[in-house]
Amino acid sequence: MTRFLLMNGPNLNMLGIREPAIYGADTLESIEEEVVEYGAKLGVDIDCFQSNHEGELIDKLHEAHSEYDGVIYNPGAHTHYSYALRDAVASIDVPVVEVHISDVDNREDFRKISVFDGVCFAKIKGHGRQGYLEAVDALLDR
Ligand code: DQA
Repeated sequence: MTRFLLMNGPNLNMLGIREPAIYGADTLESIEEEVVEYGAKLGVDIDCFQSNHEGELIDKLHEAHSEYDGVIYNPGAHTHYSYALRDAVASIDVPVVEVHISDVDNREDFRKISVFDGVCFAKIKGHGRQGYLEAVDALLDR
């Protein structure tokens, strides 16, 4: 069976509470549930992982190398500065799609930079929770 990992970085556990005008009122749990259900309908088994810790996220990406056929990844603020996570994505032979709930290119200047450019095969931004479902499609289309 095809297996994907849905991975969320720092502060995304605060969805629902965190800046709802930007990120919406939905919790990460409800988003994860929807993505898992959507995957199941398409014959994809999806595991979810969230961490606020860079090292744990790096370890999970390394594990993904042998465990998963694709990764859906919202790196949160790590997007803008974590070369260690960029290198972890580049280290594994698994396609990774970068997802952002908000439109990072139309916010503060520092959010316009993604250190994942060139190592993720696609980027989906500004589509809210729907973006995670689009990422499932993008991995399947690939
Ligand atoms: C985010 C955008 C990032 O700039 C921010 O640091 C986040 C969430 C998004 O989903 O829109 O934590 O990745």
